[in-house]
Amino acid sequence: MLEELDKIQQAALEALASVKDEDTLQAWKVTHLGRSSGLMQVFSGLGKLSKEERPAVGQGANNVKVALENAFVERTNALRQSELARSLEEDALDITLPGRAFRPGRLHPATQNLRRVIAILSNMGFQVFTSRDVETDEYNFQLLNIPPHHPAREMQDTFYVDAGIEDDTYSVVLRTHTSPGQIHAMRAYSSTNPDNPPPLRVILPGMCYRYEQITARSEVQFNQVEGIAVGEGITFTDLKGTLSEFARRMFGQNARTRFRADYFPFTEPSAEMDVECFVCGGEGCPVCKKTGWLEILGCGMVNPIVLQNGGYDPTRYTGFAFGMGPERQLMLRHKIDDIRYFWGNDVRFLEQF
Ligand code: PHE
Repeated sequence: MLEELDKIQQAALEALASVKDEDTLQAWKVTHLGRSSGLMQVFSGLGKLSKEERPAVGQGANNVKVALENAFVERTNALRQSELARSLEEDALDITLPGRAFRPGRLHPATQNLRRVIAILSNMGFQVFTSRDVETDEYNFQLLNIPPHHPAREMQDTFYVDAGIEDDTYSVVLRTHTSPGQIHAMRAYSSTNPDNPPPLRVILPGMCYRYEQITARSEVQFNQVEGIAVGEGITFTDLKGTLSEFARRMFGQNARTRFRADYFPFTEPSAEMDVECFVCGGEGCPVCKKTGWLEILGCGMVNPIVLQNGGYDPTRYTGFAFGMGPERQLMLRHKIDDIRYFWGNDVRFLEQF
């Protein structure tokens, strides 16, 4: 009987040595360790043996079982190892394949320039104040000294939104400029201390909307950056100094500026600031239409009526305000001849920035 066990063990180990994959391995287990295997039959036949034979055969069968189980585990590990080695060898990355091109995104040119303007003015002491895009007629016009039916409304074609409101004051418009933010900012500051409002220095960047026919020169939407400074003793000199310094930081240390009288209902006096043409250096070229100057922004001393509407006492406080179009600056700088490129979503345009 012990000889029989020896044979069983030998046959099983020989068979195991030729097992090459998981499936055959499982089959081997059933054949050699399963219920109907020769080994298990030895176990179930133990009862029929004599008392003298039984311990030795039982012991021997147990030894064979342990040996086969160990051999099975060993073989399993060995198979897994060689499978891993094989797949590392055969399924290795083919590094000759070209990779997927990495295309980093970038900011829209209008956003780039907007951020540049904001960065410069922030460094000069202005805080960003975010104001709403959807306004009432009151804020967009009336509080800025543009009453209903005033001819100055002709300066800005307006998207009036039909909100079913009869009263003109509260009728809804998409802001035509960032100037209504002046009132919001002043009121926010003056409400903190109505008797002695703090000095105010904010910029108001954001999208504006006008009911324009879309052409190469006009769009229905564009960004503006508004600025307003209010405090005691602010004069036109501060306006000129601040805006000229802005022009130098924006267009280069040698940028010369000039101010021309203009009209805005919400500033008095009002001006337009030109910067010496940075394309031709002031010599005269198609970009500056041979004048040597480029118009950059509108500005002026805040009208006393507007100061009052913002909660500042105009006998005590003065201020200046300005508004510029960052897209326009970009058009001048890069000789972009069609404003429609900005919101046309054509990557051939956008990728150049
Ligand atoms: N809001 C004016 C415009 O859109 C610009 C401006 C702002 C002028 C502030 C003076 C002061 O044309």
